[in-house]
Amino acid sequence: MTSRRRVLSRSAALIGTASISLLLPAITRAQSAKLRVGLMLPYTGTYSQLGVAIENGFRMAIEEQGGKLGGREIEYFKVDDESEPAKGIENATKLVQRDKVDVLVGTVHSGVQMGIQKVARDSGVLSLIPNAGVHAATRSLCAPNVFRTSFTNSQPTRPLGAAMVARGHKKAVWITWKYAAGDEAFEGFKEGYLAAGGSIVKELSLPFPNVEFQALLTEIAALKPDAVACFFSGGGAVKFIQDYAAAGLKGKIPLYGSGFLTEGVLDAVGSAGEGIVSTLHYADSLDIPRNRAFRLAYAKTYKLQPDVFAVQGYDTGLLLIHGANAVKGDMNNKAALYKALESATIDSPRGKWTMSKSHNPVQDIYLRVVENKENKVIGIAAKALADSGAGCKMA
Ligand code: PHB
Repeated sequence: MTSRRRVLSRSAALIGTASISLLLPAITRAQSAKLRVGLMLPYTGTYSQLGVAIENGFRMAIEEQGGKLGGREIEYFKVDDESEPAKGIENATKLVQRDKVDVLVGTVHSGVQMGIQKVARDSGVLSLIPNAGVHAATRSLCAPNVFRTSFTNSQPTRPLGAAMVARGHKKAVWITWKYAAGDEAFEGFKEGYLAAGGSIVKELSLPFPNVEFQALLTEIAALKPDAVACFFSGGGAVKFIQDYAAAGLKGKIPLYGSGFLTEGVLDAVGSAGEGIVSTLHYADSLDIPRNRAFRLAYAKTYKLQPDVFAVQGYDTGLLLIHGANAVKGDMNNKAALYKALESATIDSPRGKWTMSKSHNPVQDIYLRVVENKENKVIGIAAKALADSGAGCKMA
């Protein structure tokens, strides 16, 4: 007999004919004094460093508040999702069914997120997205129990095109991995670039997570655009930046990116990264006290420089703390929990942000340039940018 059933039958004996349903929330709390947090993140593959940074940031936020959530101790359950969409549903189900988590934190890859989204919608478990930007999660498939602390895939690239045109780069080649994150980043880029008067010479892609860039770089050299814009991230971004320089394109054809390109990779790429201009909802050099304190604490704790992924993990921790405190640890008080999460203002290292109606951050997008291995802010590319959230029928 499971411990839950034992508790149930014992309680039923104690209360005689009283309605069990009335007691269920109390029993659920009693049988799980520790709040169960599931982390479904990539710990292997091209996005492995992103998963580690998210977990680091998440744990740091919680440790800073005394290591508890709404007064309850925490028990962690971890799954390496390998950024493998085919295993998305199975891995999320493990956390929900086998480990009975109260909250599922994950993930990085948009394809895997679609699996989590299905499990979250079917089970009703609280799901916090610390990175993956797939539009559907907060648009057509949005759900009352799903909240994103990161971005939608088109959010960072929407203001990129105008910045490129302002610098005189009106003909661009776009290059990316062919999956939701790359496709939707392109959607945002294309809209902004065309509106600013730019034109797209060619759209190039390769399957995720391939890094055989050579033939595509040769094609770019032959096309001679004013600039190249791209979406790559993690290990693949390191290789792309290095190959771009090795192919002799650096210094000849300016490279722009959705800002993930230069996150967590600057030590690895060295001089090949210098001068890359990008747009993102974070920058290392953001000169606000919250960011300075965060960077110092993160470097001290992990002996590593934080990046946008660490910030997103940290903000996921902040959001969960806010929600758990609002319901004093009673995660079954869903109406109050969701209300608290919806109305949260997160005092983030990226600057304060709020939750949109469809549960995605409303946030500033910064224009940045890589200088001395740092993402430096050189402007605000978009102020308080909200994703459309079109199609969400939530009350
Ligand atoms: C995604 O798959 O949604 C994704 C992955 C890595 C990023 C951004 C988005 O840096």
